[in-house]
Amino acid sequence: MDIKMKQAQLISYLLNRGDPSILPHYPEVNVNDPIEVKRHFPEILRRHADDGFVIIGDCYDMYLAGDCEDYSTYLGIDVNRIVYDKVRSARQVLRVGDVGCGNPKMLKELKEEYGKDIEVVGFDLISLSHHDSLDLFVEGDFEKSLDPGLVNTFDLIFSCNTFRYLATRFSDAYSNVKRLFRTNDSLGFVNYSNYRGATRTDELSAITSFVARNQSLVVNSSGCMRIRSDSPDNPLEYLKKHGAFDL
Ligand SMILES: C[S@@+](CC[C@H](N)C(=O)[O-])C[C@H]1O[C@@H](n2cnc3c(N)ncnc32)[C@H](O)[C@@H]1O
Repeated sequence: MDIKMKQAQLISYLLNRGDPSILPHYPEVNVNDPIEVKRHFPEILRRHADDGFVIIGDCYDMYLAGDCEDYSTYLGIDVNRIVYDKVRSARQVLRVGDVGCGNPKMLKELKEEYGKDIEVVGFDLISLSHHDSLDLFVEGDFEKSLDPGLVNTFDLIFSCNTFRYLATRFSDAYSNVKRLFRTNDSLGFVNYSNYRGATRTDELSAITSFVARNQSLVVNSSGCMRIRSDSPDNPLEYLKKHGAFDL
């Protein structure tokens, strides 16, 4: 669903429910404080996983129910094509994770499409009935240490519009994505940039279309990082050392 459709959905939400004041809205949340945003996430997700969107702070584009097309748009990649290619070349059931899966529409769509060829695993702060149909749901804070049973078991990891809220997006959370990889062919696709309304800044948020010399780290023009097992341990440190425009 493209951005215009989302806006149309928002307008229809307002019209159908009549009263704009009931639009899910969390103006009190300071979007520049990752700890505070994290504290509010469970309640936001519990209440609005079905609505699919909320307004927090001044930023109105927080979605909770992105499908494959939404993920493809936000990440600037073709999610279905990536999964299709991996499924075709896989020697075993492909394990696909989604960090901050929200609703989790994207994983459900993939499961419907690829059935027994893939195993879909959602990660999020709280467990909802929406997660029941996943092959596995991992409840908890992705910035903390991982269950050792999950380490080295994933072929693909996606994360859409979630890392932007994490304090450790270029350290602990990023390293956890790498730890999940099963083989050297495993891949992660993660966008991380700030959202409208937030002033929290860092060097990478301003940088898109970055390619490390050996292509171990690629950031496309949508600000989506492609992570591999040989990606630098800390992308910010890497950038500081090697320079931003490494194309
Ligand atoms: C803006 S929503 C995006 C949901 C989904 N990826 C989408 O694009 O529709 C961010 C999601 O990340 C989850 N989240 C935030 N911080 C998290 C953390 N530290 N660990 C796991 N999940 C987290 C939230 O609960 C929420 O479901």
